[in-house]
Amino acid sequence: MTIFQTKPKLIAHRGANLLAPENTLPAFALAYEMGAAWVECDVVLTADHVPVILHDRDLWRTARLHADIDKLNYADLRNYNVGRYFSKDYAHTSVPKLEELLELAVRYGRGVNIEIKPALPEYAKETAEYSYKVIEPYLKHIPILISSFELDALKWYRQYAPEVDLGFLLSRWLSEWERVAVFLNAVSIHCNEKILTQKRLSLLKQSKYSVLAYTVNSVARAEELFSSGVDGIFSDDPLLLSRVAS
Ligand code: G3P
Ligand code: MG
Repeated sequence: MTIFQTKPKLIAHRGANLLAPENTLPAFALAYEMGAAWVECDVVLTADHVPVILHDRDLWRTARLHADIDKLNYADLRNYNVGRYFSKDYAHTSVPKLEELLELAVRYGRGVNIEIKPALPEYAKETAEYSYKVIEPYLKHIPILISSFELDALKWYRQYAPEVDLGFLLSRWLSEWERVAVFLNAVSIHCNEKILTQKRLSLLKQSKYSVLAYTVNSVARAEELFSSGVDGIFSDDPLLLSRVAS
């Protein structure tokens, strides 16, 4: 399944990260258990080029140790605990390999939005390349959508993995968004919800691209975005959708 067919209305941002440590296997499993059809994760390379799931370059925020991911080999990273900052219930939680999340998604039969997040912009192409080696065997089994803020990562995918669905991320408004989307043959545009004014949304909605908004945790904002035509939201709360509907 390589098409962004399932059109998720809610993507669990870094897993169910309000209830479990972000970007960990327990957070992803919990999101799927709570009914999320898709999860979002951030993928970066270790020094020895293993694609792993982590948001920040520096491990301080989640592991309470200062170290840059791109200077650590995977064998050393495995000893870092990224669950204890959240609660002692997650005292043995390590940074997952991308492959481990994809295996989990296969078991649940759900989708994964893989955000390519190179530790530094100059690692964009290699992060794309090494992540694709892991992703490629899973493309026929689960819905996968690749996204990134880094144009070089998306360009790599478009050139070397034409079968992959791409979404591009906008943290700030870009008036040339449509030209970029056409160039990448993207399927979706993922915008920071703060930049989504009514005017911009109506421009986006005139295009063929799915429009996703991150990160939405308020029922009122979710309702507003859905009624303005947003196709899906990234949320830290996998149950938000049921609260919007009720
Ligand atoms: O992919 C949507 C969102 O995750 C982008 O921002 O910083 O949470 O990775 P960030
Ligand atoms: Mg992300």
